[in-house]
Amino acid sequence: MKAENRTGSSTIRVLVVDDEPDIRELLDLTLARMGLACDCAGSVAEARRLLAAGSYQLCLTDMRLPDGEGIELVRHISEHCEDLPVAVITAHGSMENAVAALKVGAFDYLAKPVSLDQLRALVKSAINLPQQTSVLAVAGEGDSEGGQLFGNSPAIRQVRDMIERVARSQAPVYVSGESGSGKELAARLIHRLGARREKPFIAVNCGAIPENLMESEFFGHRKGAFTGAESDREGFFKAANGGTLFLDEVADLPLAMQVKLLRAIQEKCVRKIGATTEEPVDVRIICATHQDLKALVEQGKFRQDLYYRLNVIGLRMPALRECREDIPQLAEHLLRRLAAAAGVAVPRLTPAALRVLCDHTFPGNVRELENTLERALALLSGASIDAADLQLTPQTCDETGSQSLPVAGHASLQDHLDQLERQMIVDALQKTRYNRTAAAKLLGITFRSLRYRMERLGLNE
Ligand SMILES: Nc1ncnc2c1ncn2[C@@H]1O[C@H](COP(=O)(O)OP(=O)(O)OP(=O)(O)O)[C@@H](O)[C@H]1O
Ligand SMILES: [Mg+2]
Repeated sequence: MKAENRTGSSTIRVLVVDDEPDIRELLDLTLARMGLACDCAGSVAEARRLLAAGSYQLCLTDMRLPDGEGIELVRHISEHCEDLPVAVITAHGSMENAVAALKVGAFDYLAKPVSLDQLRALVKSAINLPQQTSVLAVAGEGDSEGGQLFGNSPAIRQVRDMIERVARSQAPVYVSGESGSGKELAARLIHRLGARREKPFIAVNCGAIPENLMESEFFGHRKGAFTGAESDREGFFKAANGGTLFLDEVADLPLAMQVKLLRAIQEKCVRKIGATTEEPVDVRIICATHQDLKALVEQGKFRQDLYYRLNVIGLRMPALRECREDIPQLAEHLLRRLAAAAGVAVPRLTPAALRVLCDHTFPGNVRELENTLERALALLSGASIDAADLQLTPQTCDETGSQSLPVAGHASLQDHLDQLERQMIVDALQKTRYNRTAAAKLLGITFRSLRYRMERLGLNE
């Protein structure tokens, strides 16, 4: 389970406003599992009472409430509780409502049926961010609704072609790739470009669902099927009916659940807990994991039959270090998006900063690039981002420990030489624990020459 430890202290309180007990319960449970305290209100009036009495770090509100509109509450919060980020939960497809809420001060929205994955991402970003500005607020409109895959490297072009072809088919897709390499983005694109685009895309983080609730989450339950089942509930399969069910971190599914999932996929029907009959479902399955699923099959941790069922079409997202020539374009795109979200002018990247970015190995891939730029932007005082603002530690080795030399297919001789020089310098600095005099000696150059070269290569930090 990845979610638990991320968001820190249990003193963080979230106010959930929804008239549907099921949604309140789902949100309450999810937030509790993230270690957050949660108060629930069923109406605008009740929410206002709680807001007046308590202190909250986040408010999530439904749009339609028995005694008014969620948007009124957003407005009230913007006026009276300036520092409280508020997000709205909208009925599926009602983008106008979401946009209206964003305009009066909501920082983000969640579409119903609420995906736990998105909920967790939203909560995390709201709580980590100092003010109401959220990357997701603006990024959400492009990215979470299926943003673009930037890049012109052969690897990314191939992925884009593949996505276009795969989108025409209905076969299950297994998206592999390292963390932060764009697996979810690819899954959303496949959905958005395909025939199911008007139907829901439900993203499920398989690693974030408590094991004892898994069956009910996936297949639903009937009222009274178990203690706490106060009303009928649809599961993810039904919620995604006609659309796409994205099983993220699929390797985290316990074996017992894998059997049930395989059956549902094969039979194309699900049975709610407590029900006597099965109901047909029509979902396209896309799954993803950063783990090596095949190796897990060999180790007996993932069922082979399910692996073959999911892996009808394989799509591998390249690591960023495999498409370094895309870094400038990606950086520019991400910076534009981040600056728009923060409501600031887009800063310029100095040539030295760009060089540092192009040389970094980015084990955390595009997400790491995004985080690096976001941090630089947050701390920026001038109009441009320089090498030092990126706070990237120089690297010489890639994840596998091998030297990360030439990369970009079209890099010039000078770029290659610079890269080699940089690696030798960083290596020497590391070997000498950053003693520049010793490093210069090791490299057979003078201290002044080392200083000049480090300056030229943007290595001073
Ligand atoms: N080629 C790309 N062009 C534009 N944005 C990208 C690209 N690749 C990734 N991103 C962005 O990088 C971030 C991480 O992507 P995403 O969440 O899809 O990665 P992931 O592989 O699912 O990561 P994880 O394994 O950590 O879940 C997102 O903000 C996404 O929009
Ligand atoms: Mg992901």
